[in-house]
Amino acid sequence: MTIKNIAVIGAGVMGQGVAYQFAKYDYNITLVDISAEILDAAGKNIRNIERLDKLLHKSASTVKVSDKITFTTELSAIGSADFIIENIRENIALKEALYREMKAYIAGHALLAVNTSAVSITRLASFLKHPAQVMGIHFMNPVHLKPTVEVIRGYHTTADTIAATQALLQSVAMTGVVVNDLPGFISNRVLMLTVNEAVFALQDQVAQVADIDKIFRECFGHKMGPLETADLIGLDTILYTLEVLLESYNDTKFRPAPLLKKMVDAGLHGRKTNEGFYKYN
Ligand code: NAI
Repeated sequence: MTIKNIAVIGAGVMGQGVAYQFAKYDYNITLVDISAEILDAAGKNIRNIERLDKLLHKSASTVKVSDKITFTTELSAIGSADFIIENIRENIALKEALYREMKAYIAGHALLAVNTSAVSITRLASFLKHPAQVMGIHFMNPVHLKPTVEVIRGYHTTADTIAATQALLQSVAMTGVVVNDLPGFISNRVLMLTVNEAVFALQDQVAQVADIDKIFRECFGHKMGPLETADLIGLDTILYTLEVLLESYNDTKFRPAPLLKKMVDAGLHGRKTNEGFYKYN
């Protein structure tokens, strides 16, 4: 199938990165959000990503990314898309409500990717007309710097859907590792436990923030420690993901650390609010 028009739903941290990456490779993007203010901010952030990407990577791309993206609050605009990538908040009820609403607009041939940290692809696909055309793509943040993603095969996802998705990813210099549909897949099933345990250790005053991260960077060769990673992902997203994992596996090992909850309640969501475990300008 030929994919030219891509709808990206949700213009937060991930939606901005996804829209940028596919626009850079000349796809026509429709970026949808419920909030006009968020779309405004997304436009500015995407221009910033483009400027830094061209500066740092001396990108040979001649595409002016902002010319390739249309911003809208109208969900019906997804009707012209060959491929849809959904990136709204990690909240099962919110995602389910959106999928029920989207059903009326999605073109019969379109493929749909759920960008999620842990929500069941099979369940979300069940709200749509063509579950065989639905898969998950778990992008990493920042999208344009993390070329390897998890491609999640739902119960009904066909081999053709996976193949078309892999080809699309290759066309934007990305690679998919195919995994089966169990909450958290590989990356978040393991990462969320590490981040959460690091927060428990901080709460128990085993060590300070910077020292916890230093151990991972210097002893294990990680590029970032668990608390820096949490700030990058967003503490709210970490909390929602742990709640989804806790509910899905019914296993208390995923219970969120009280300190994490307190920080989210206090509005310390990490880099996006300029403060999490660290402070940012
Ligand atoms: P975010 O909270 O930054 O952005 C979510 C956006 O969705 C907001 O702009 C919100 O206004 C919008 N939205 C909410 N309901 C909507 C609706 N019905 N229609 C259209 N837009 C709607 O969230 P973020 O961090 O971008 O995460 C999005 C998804 O990607 C989540 O499922 C998350 O688990 C997943 N993810 C996040 C990663 C991260 O590092 N933040 C990494 C990989 C996946």
